[in-house]
Amino acid sequence: MSSLFPQNSIAVITGAASGIGRAAARNFARDGMKIVMVDSNEQKLLAARDEIAGIAGAANVSAEIVDVASAEAMSSLAAKVQAAWGSPSLLMNNAAAFVSGGKGGILDPLTNWQMLFDVNVFGPINGVMAFLPGMLEAGTPAKIVNTGSKQGLTNPPGNPAYNTTKAALNAYTQNLAHDLRNRPGANVSAHLLVPGWTTTGDSEPKQGAWMPEQVIAFMVEALGRDEFFIICPDGETSSEMDRKRILWNALDIVKNRPALSRWHPKHKDAFAEFMKQDLPL
Ligand SMILES: NC(=O)c1ccc[n+]([C@@H]2O[C@H](COP(=O)([O-])OP(=O)(O)OC[C@H]3O[C@@H](n4cnc5c(N)ncnc54)[C@H](O)[C@@H]3O)[C@@H](O)[C@H]2O)c1
Repeated sequence: MSSLFPQNSIAVITGAASGIGRAAARNFARDGMKIVMVDSNEQKLLAARDEIAGIAGAANVSAEIVDVASAEAMSSLAAKVQAAWGSPSLLMNNAAAFVSGGKGGILDPLTNWQMLFDVNVFGPINGVMAFLPGMLEAGTPAKIVNTGSKQGLTNPPGNPAYNTTKAALNAYTQNLAHDLRNRPGANVSAHLLVPGWTTTGDSEPKQGAWMPEQVIAFMVEALGRDEFFIICPDGETSSEMDRKRILWNALDIVKNRPALSRWHPKHKDAFAEFMKQDLPL
């Protein structure tokens, strides 16, 4: 059993009806935490709630149908949780939306861009604004985990709006960690979970993809070491491949190469060569 959080402490997990959030709820319920499962999909949430109640006991699970994009709804949720159980030891801002209705291009309808920013960027910001004051006031050790994406780190072309939201979340979460570690008396840390390719939603398991439980097991280990960047490998991409891809992306700036040179006809051979070499670190 993980000793990350005390028995009966509280985990608030958004996007808890499915995938990585649901696996997190399962894991922390097994650890004896009280679980607040937050999701906008009522049907899925109620089914997931029943599963988690089977682990933690119905009295220790609360299912909250909330759209994380709503600051008011997140603020009401925090007040409700505080009044019922107290402030969370874990806030996992994990819910995210993907592009729907557009082709994932730069000229996607503005409504898609706005929806993705509302959920993927303001969702976590709303979560922090709602819950952090209570967590700071409680003074007990607590963690905030925001779920990012490799698409926000290495920026593969094809889905600019989603990539941009996850890049913003990376920047935001680094600032959150910096603020918290410099805030006198604060006992809260922030972490960026970056899953690799993971079978989630209603998809069938795919060869090469991790299962959500693997992501959560990896996250728990990394949180135990108090790591900020929790970058998961998967069955196709090793941690070393990730490090090289991230470094190549950073070197685009340092070397003043064209944007996204990894996919540029004049640079992609050099990138392939770079991937074969040892990391220059
Ligand atoms: N699956 C992957 O390969 C992968 C890779 C990298 C990052 N991620 C990230 O992992 C996180 C979890 O995604 P998943 O793969 O488990 O997906 P999922 O679709 O299985 O679960 C996401 C959950 O979030 C909920 N949700 C969506 N919008 C919401 C909103 N506005 N308010 C409240 N709940 C909302 C959905 O109803 C769903 O239950 C996301 O942040 C995603 O970007 C996933």
